[in-house]
Amino acid sequence: MSSVMTQAVTAPLTQAAIFLVVTLKPDPRGDEAVRALCADLAGVARSIGFRYPERQLTCVTGFGSAAWDRLFGQPRPAELHTFREINGAHHAPSTPGDLLFHIRAGQMDLCFELATEIMARLGEFAEVADEVHGFKYFDARDLLGFVDGSENPVDQDAVAATIVGDEDAAFAGGSYVIVQKYLHDLKAWNAIPVEQQEKIIGRKKSSNIELADEAKPSYAHNVLTVIEENGEELDIVRDNMPFGEVGKGEFGTYFCGYARSPSRIERMLVNMFVGRPPGNYDRLLDVSRAMTGTLFFVPSADFLDGL
Ligand code: HEM
Repeated sequence: MSSVMTQAVTAPLTQAAIFLVVTLKPDPRGDEAVRALCADLAGVARSIGFRYPERQLTCVTGFGSAAWDRLFGQPRPAELHTFREINGAHHAPSTPGDLLFHIRAGQMDLCFELATEIMARLGEFAEVADEVHGFKYFDARDLLGFVDGSENPVDQDAVAATIVGDEDAAFAGGSYVIVQKYLHDLKAWNAIPVEQQEKIIGRKKSSNIELADEAKPSYAHNVLTVIEENGEELDIVRDNMPFGEVGKGEFGTYFCGYARSPSRIERMLVNMFVGRPPGNYDRLLDVSRAMTGTLFFVPSADFLDGL
């Protein structure tokens, strides 16, 4: 597996990102356009990004379950399935998406250029189901005012958390990603005293220091999203970005989580939406509504190049 080239799954958080979720019309010419785009995409991104190497343009491409079957058939990634909606204390919907393009760069112009080129190549066969332009907000804060991303694994730990290995040898070097677009009720959030907000997140708002375990309530976000197997913590890598539209009163967090198995992210989501134990749910959700939810498989870079 070490010789397989992965996509830029573990690239660092950037100043700007575009999340493009695309649906495909059922047309064999569209399927052909997708395969041709995928084979070219690394080169296109390189051509755009090479002009500004310091802006670190990357693009990760993912495929939804039904799209995989249509485009590539067998074999298929062992754990690829349609995102399962969750009905608990709060609702996590499952929404359409055949392709995900997660485009990151130090500046929005490069992301925008690449997104434009991608959609031009897909032409009439593709429709954008959801497009979010995310921006870095101060010192990597979400719009709730908390620093988001601190506990992400880095370097080799990030690779170990996200990249499929021998468990699915035919797809080694791949990854899974779940995206969800959340809208916040900032009025309600800002009415909550900061000390209570800190309990909901499990960290100090200003300093970003983690609360002591004894000080965290059982519903703290960083209690419910910590999961273990055989005494070992199961990590994911999150590339959340703030986004919004002031005039519409829209203030959001685009959740983007990568893992070598989607079940890790799904377990976290059940803890958040249903609760651990049931009823002990994530209070973030009282002020944050999941509007979308989609799961994609991210094949290795070699797989795409070979198309
Ligand atoms: C409204 C959407 C969300 C917001 C605003 C949010 C915000 C945060 C913040 C501020 C932190 C603490 C700092 C950090 O370690 O990054 C955090 C941690 C974390 N979040 Fe979220 N999050 C959201 C959704 C999710 C979802 C949907 C998942 C997983 C399914 C998730 C998984 C995690 C994990 C694993 C941690 C690290 C916990 C630890 O090890 O301490 N988050 N999140």
